[in-house]
Amino acid sequence: MSEKTHELIGVLATQYNMKDYDEAYATFDWAEVEKELSWSTTGKINVAYEAIDRHVDTGRGDHIALYYSDATRDEKYTFAELKALSNKFGNVLKKYGVKKGDRVFIFMPRSPELYAALLGAVKIGAIVGPLFEAFMEGAVRDRLEDAGAIAIVTTPKLQQRVPVSELPELQHVFLVGAEGELAPKEISFDAEMKDASEDLEIEWVDREDGLVLHYTSGSTGKPKGVLHVHNAMIQHYQTGKWILDLRPDDVFWCTADPGWVTGTAYGIWGPWLQGATSVIRGGRFTPEDWYDTLQRFNVTVWYSAPTAFRMLMGAGDDLVKKFDLSSVRHILSVGEPLNAEVVRWGMKVYGKRIHDNWWMTETGGQMISNYPSMPMKPGSMGKPFPGIYAAIVDNEGNELPPNTMGNLAIRAPWPSMMRKIWNNPAKYEEYFGLKPWYISGDSAYKDEDGYFWFQGRIDDVINTSGERVGPFEVESKLVEHPAVAEAGVIGKPDPLRGEVIKAFIALREGYEPTDELIAEIREFVKTGLAAHAAPREIEFRDKLPKTRSGKIMRRVLKAWELGLPTGDLSTMED
Ligand code: WT7
Repeated sequence: MSEKTHELIGVLATQYNMKDYDEAYATFDWAEVEKELSWSTTGKINVAYEAIDRHVDTGRGDHIALYYSDATRDEKYTFAELKALSNKFGNVLKKYGVKKGDRVFIFMPRSPELYAALLGAVKIGAIVGPLFEAFMEGAVRDRLEDAGAIAIVTTPKLQQRVPVSELPELQHVFLVGAEGELAPKEISFDAEMKDASEDLEIEWVDREDGLVLHYTSGSTGKPKGVLHVHNAMIQHYQTGKWILDLRPDDVFWCTADPGWVTGTAYGIWGPWLQGATSVIRGGRFTPEDWYDTLQRFNVTVWYSAPTAFRMLMGAGDDLVKKFDLSSVRHILSVGEPLNAEVVRWGMKVYGKRIHDNWWMTETGGQMISNYPSMPMKPGSMGKPFPGIYAAIVDNEGNELPPNTMGNLAIRAPWPSMMRKIWNNPAKYEEYFGLKPWYISGDSAYKDEDGYFWFQGRIDDVINTSGERVGPFEVESKLVEHPAVAEAGVIGKPDPLRGEVIKAFIALREGYEPTDELIAEIREFVKTGLAAHAAPREIEFRDKLPKTRSGKIMRRVLKAWELGLPTGDLSTMED
């Protein structure tokens, strides 16, 4: 590692919020940031007020907060309009007795209604649980059950995947676009919104009060509910300023869905805390649509993921030339390693650096990044945000010298750090066992100039197209299929998707390994869990490698797959 010499791309931006990284890092103080948010006067806060209403109160109510477009809709909303809509939904929730701390889930495709509902729920102090629309019934049930959700906002189509009768705590199902007869517990979102008042008594909360639950996957067990609190806004505000480099006149496009943490932290809070305009694109779209969106809305700051950039790279250089992308000033990427090759391609076709940054659901906000004002080493995640201390440590928590691979760790706490794993305090403690560190589960090294380089996951969590998939959840679904006796699931390196999901399966007696069966099993996971969790590859084996205690040895499967040595097999059963 240490022998590598890295190319350096100098600073290109002509304007930026952070003038000099080293100076910012040396002098930064989170307490100073708090003074820019309104709780400094009252002690109480609400991030939805800070993100939306505050701009109305300071005379920017007519500024566009949201451009929404999909195949059938093209709409815009000012901060004043978003304030009114979210107030309405806050009042609707209050009318049905939803209170501070209650869990309100949102399970629907991206739309203005989604954002109004989410903001309204936050305004009354509820904890929101955004769910990605691709989740199927089992995945939805697990999450609602674990969180003890009392309300959900969804659509008639997606409602079919909400097993209301099996969720005794779920009292209200708000249906956006409801038609016809409503069953018990069902409420028409649209009818309620029409009648609701635009004036809302906001619930002022304490900084440590719950804000959002994001379910994310680990290598074992069901997905865990990562809880973030209102205090996280300090970090969303400051990273919005220094990493996204936003100013109030910017038009920002974050391509992530609010079902993932990027879609809330930087699809909602980051841009709106800065008073910038956010572009939300719904539905599926082609490379043409991507560029068209940038051009049509004069996007200035664009935040996406390596899988998207690789897809656009595959669509070719000529396509870029058909669009006027001159509005774009700053490009960012998150979610998986951003290959140096993609950065070089970005320089060629966009004439811009793509700024990689690293963080996770658990960290709640960006932690390590490349900044417009800092020279960039393509392939590196950059340097820690001011106020964040990141290090590479061994398994005892000792910091390792430069260019040595180890655990990527962050000194706890920081403002947007998760505060709880819902119903699972033991799991939460696992992350913080090596005091004072938070152990990320990623391995990395830091070079002699302080740049961090991602190496891989230490556990078996799969990152496919930037989406984190727990192998255990897929395996559990696979063994529900009548033909499957045992299943082991790994991530297999893939040039486009980063990793693809590969399942090794041992069949039950009486089943034959056929192509039809492969298709059937894939479909089974697709419809039972989620499309992105379905194995792209399935390989049948008579037996799977297991430990004596019966755990599938995924590292052995991976070694088989990659043709690598299998390592220590002392714990393997005969
Ligand atoms: C995992 C977290 C919050 C961002 C969206 C994903 C991987 C994230 C990078 C990066 C290499 C990255 C890590 C991390 N990851 N960013 N810049 N370079 N890997 O959030 O679903 O919680 O996944 O994504 O492995 O631990 P997430």
